[in-house]
Amino acid sequence: MKTLVFAHRGASKRAPENTMPSFQLAYEMGAEGIETDVQLSKDGIPVLIHDETVRRTTNSVGFVQDYTYEQLQNLDAGSWFSEKYENTRIISLEDFLIWAQPKQLQLNIELKNNVIDYENLEKKVYDLLIKYKLVKRTTISSFNPVSLERFKQIDRKIATALLTSQRINGLVDYTSGLGAKALHIKYRLLNSKVVEECREKDMKLRIYTINRAGAMKKCFQLHTDAIFTDVPDIAIEQRRLFE
Ligand code: G3P
Ligand code: MG
Repeated sequence: MKTLVFAHRGASKRAPENTMPSFQLAYEMGAEGIETDVQLSKDGIPVLIHDETVRRTTNSVGFVQDYTYEQLQNLDAGSWFSEKYENTRIISLEDFLIWAQPKQLQLNIELKNNVIDYENLEKKVYDLLIKYKLVKRTTISSFNPVSLERFKQIDRKIATALLTSQRINGLVDYTSGLGAKALHIKYRLLNSKVVEECREKDMKLRIYTINRAGAMKKCFQLHTDAIFTDVPDIAIEQRRLFE
């Protein structure tokens, strides 16, 4: 099996992360999957934004959870990246799913609930996946292991993934114990031992965030299941050398 290319926050090197232009570009580049980050608005709408605050990626300040969805819609989530993307909007998870549904894309929805443990985030996300019949193509990931356990209580069959950047003894066993089907690790944790351990447990191994050709090469050589990259076009080009 070839290593799949997941666009990290979309094609986020070339367009503002987690926005429609960035997802559309990733799709056009031929990425097999898209990774995106979910936070909750004040009125309980799952929205796609990486940070808990809007400061870095919009023209405003404050916590996402202090803005209603409508208020978030008034922010400019593109100008910080470049003038070309002025007035690009934050989108809801629902709009993203509507866009992704007719396309052959795998989805990785990262719940950003390791800093703020948003109430009912799991159920809200799950209900949307059911509504758009996307459960089978989606992996739910989080740095928060408790959230992964909560997700399993909603649907024990849904694919979940533990995210970590920490060297933890017995990581693969621990991940298995959470009922997760995948482990998403930072590149510095990648070695042949973790690849082997995951294989033995039938656990998918995906690596973030891989933007340099040398790191891509290592992932392809070790046959990791996927990489997350801000530059899917470059990753796909590099991968050809290994086909
Ligand atoms: O899901 C992989 C990666 O996105 C995790 O870290 O901070 O980029 O969301 P972060
Ligand atoms: Mg992420």
